[in-house]
Amino acid sequence: MNETIYFDNNATSALNPKVLETMMPFLQYQVGNPTSQHSYGRHARLAIDTARQQVAESCGCHPSQVIFTSGGTESDNLAIQGISAGFDTSSQIVVSAIEHPAVTRPAFSLRSRGYRVAVIGTDKQGFIDPLSLEVILEKPTALISAMMVNNETGVIQDIKTLNQLAKTKGVLFHTDAVQALGKIEVNFEDLEVDALSISAHKINGPQGVGALIVSKSIDIFPLLNGGGQERGLRSGTENVAGIVGFGQACALLKDQADIKNQTVAMLRDQLETGLLKLKATIFAHHSTRVANTSFFAFNHIQGETLVTAMDQAGFAIASGSACSSDSTEPSHVLMAMGVASDLARGAVRVSLSINNTAEQIQTFLVKLEQVIGQFSNLSAVKITA
Ligand SMILES: Cc1ncc(COP(=O)(O)O)c(C=O)c1O
Repeated sequence: MNETIYFDNNATSALNPKVLETMMPFLQYQVGNPTSQHSYGRHARLAIDTARQQVAESCGCHPSQVIFTSGGTESDNLAIQGISAGFDTSSQIVVSAIEHPAVTRPAFSLRSRGYRVAVIGTDKQGFIDPLSLEVILEKPTALISAMMVNNETGVIQDIKTLNQLAKTKGVLFHTDAVQALGKIEVNFEDLEVDALSISAHKINGPQGVGALIVSKSIDIFPLLNGGGQERGLRSGTENVAGIVGFGQACALLKDQADIKNQTVAMLRDQLETGLLKLKATIFAHHSTRVANTSFFAFNHIQGETLVTAMDQAGFAIASGSACSSDSTEPSHVLMAMGVASDLARGAVRVSLSINNTAEQIQTFLVKLEQVIGQFSNLSAVKITA
């Protein structure tokens, strides 16, 4: 058994035992393909319908608006490429500078098909700037994609205001809510956006399943063609066990949501009080953020180095762009916020869950102080040598 304490819940979260229990019959005995007419097939179809209802309830939409996918990445790709396909290249696509690569890469790949892609910046606090959006929207625009919660800083964007700006110009709006669901309220109808992406493994559901919520009034073209599943928008035999687990994970989100959030916020505050004593820079410290995320750096210590040292000390944390690759480039999110690249290279992220404890935070801070001490001794030796 791995004794390392897990502080990387924005990367992926532990499967809830109740979710696993719900999935088990579909992994062990359920052989039905949901498109089959016989009782096995009907049983699988019914299970998917229930999950669709549960997912819809968790994010305030109608079940018919839920398209199951293989995860957040596919949902983002489907939104960006599937919606853009309905427009000709005279309309630009707009993304924010702090999006996950699951949004920026499909957007930038549209350039090879002749589309212009514009990027909206953020301010120093990590908020997408509505004024730059207004300027960008002076050109004909097909689609804007701006995330609800940033995976690195945890900053919560004002999606309603950004979407209202888009609507004044008749522009479609997609939001990546992968890091928002389960941490803040996500309500598709209330936000009035056109498309919204979510992923099961960020909310204690299984990996490899997600959904795109999409308004019925817009045209969207599939990325995968075949048997016509998911209203023809995502062909391929459904991942029945995964979808059932996703539904259950969504249903469980309601359980004591406020208490869980308050508990995690207390742990995060305890952590950040300790970090400030150790002279860390905490990014987006005073911005409206989700309760579980802390993104920080120490001068002269590379993020990758700190992650390795803390792993050896028994803690799993993430460096800069944890969700993209093992790149040593400074975080694009911090670059957008105007953080100096040397400091940005030191960035590490702690993302907590309700399974973490005050004792773990206390031990983490003690170990961190030791690790930082070792590194400052090393750099002192280097300087005097
Ligand atoms: C904001 C954001 N969008 C999209 C994704 C991709 O989701 P998935 O891992 O389900 O493909 C992630 C994953 O880290 C994410 O944090």
